[in-house]
Amino acid sequence: VLVGPGLARQLADLPPIAATPGQVFVITDHHVDSAWPDLLPGVPRLVFPAGERHKTRPSWVELTDRLLDAGADRHATVVALGGGVTTDLAGFVAATLLRGVRWVAVPTSTLAMLDAAVGGKVGVDTGHGKNLVGAFHPPHTVVVDPALLATLPARSFREGLAEAVKHAAVADAALWRWLEEHAAAVIERDVDLMAELAHRSLAIKAQVVSEDERESGRRTILNAGHTVAHALEHATDLELPHGEAVAIGLVVEARIAERRGVAASGTAARVATLLGVLGLPVTVPERLDRDRFVAALQHDKKNRDATVRAALLADIGIVARDDDGDWTLPLHAHEVTAALG
Ligand SMILES: NC(=O)c1ccc[n+]([C@@H]2O[C@H](COP(=O)([O-])OP(=O)(O)OC[C@H]3O[C@@H](n4cnc5c(N)ncnc54)[C@H](O)[C@@H]3O)[C@@H](O)[C@H]2O)c1
Ligand SMILES: [Zn+2]
Repeated sequence: VLVGPGLARQLADLPPIAATPGQVFVITDHHVDSAWPDLLPGVPRLVFPAGERHKTRPSWVELTDRLLDAGADRHATVVALGGGVTTDLAGFVAATLLRGVRWVAVPTSTLAMLDAAVGGKVGVDTGHGKNLVGAFHPPHTVVVDPALLATLPARSFREGLAEAVKHAAVADAALWRWLEEHAAAVIERDVDLMAELAHRSLAIKAQVVSEDERESGRRTILNAGHTVAHALEHATDLELPHGEAVAIGLVVEARIAERRGVAASGTAARVATLLGVLGLPVTVPERLDRDRFVAALQHDKKNRDATVRAALLADIGIVARDDDGDWTLPLHAHEVTAALG
């Protein structure tokens, strides 16, 4: 993972691209293509329509065919330039093309810079749900240039910060204090602070993931806030953006942990305060349909033995474990709805 303001302008000189024996292709969406037309001049660009609804198998077919038409062979390198949709989709194209070619992630959204570009999960959505077809195919290199965030719409910018808050909450109390101290400058997109935040946030994710690449044990702590978040997203027909749902989910799950006596008192208030300063919502939408919320909660894909489970905080930086050493604890639907406030 290379992190630094200005790195995107030097992409052609960076080792994975400068030293490749094969052809290089950029895959990007049409927003990022028009915001950053001059990166990697002379390298063929495959542009797809922006948005989660294009993270699909038809997009994968089209991009794969275009690469093959252009003569891509197993030495090809795919550069994914964009947000999490682009890194997931282009990473999946790279994972399957000729049984796997090298790819480089150049994240352009906060969410991708602080989270999605690292971890190796790539894939597409289906009519049955998000991310249901995919692979584990880590990028060869991740190039993080916070200067690319300049053109990101404000709501998207703030949304991605929720995942960094989550990383600090589950694993790094020092990063949490750093965020409390620097929140105001972070939302101004100070490139040096964003570089430090990306470095620390990705390091947490990389460390947790490298211990547990296929998500059987500790990696589940990265789902903190997400049990409630996924149910909120489904109950609002995905109108609530993912990062905003995660922000609310972190607060609600911290409240559950506190009410159970699992988390230190004051934990939920601290979570809500930091997220609020970062411009993220911390209360559930007023019009939330609670019956749909409960139905969605009970369908969460992380559920085992038909119980809803979540990684709960014991304190800032520490996840609670049950008597068997498990990283998630069962939740009762009634305590979740009670904690919605
Ligand atoms: N693989 C993983 O581990 C992982 C982790 C978290 C999320 N994700 C995935 O990430 C996706 C969400 O990512 P996202 O929020 O980045 O969505 P996104 O890629 O759709 O980007 C959000 C919007 O911002 C635009 N955009 C991105 N960067 C820009 C820039 N610099 N300037 C102008 N516009 C820009 C995009 O075109 C898009 O319209 C979801 O599909 C989610 O499943 C994957
Ligand atoms: Zn998430």
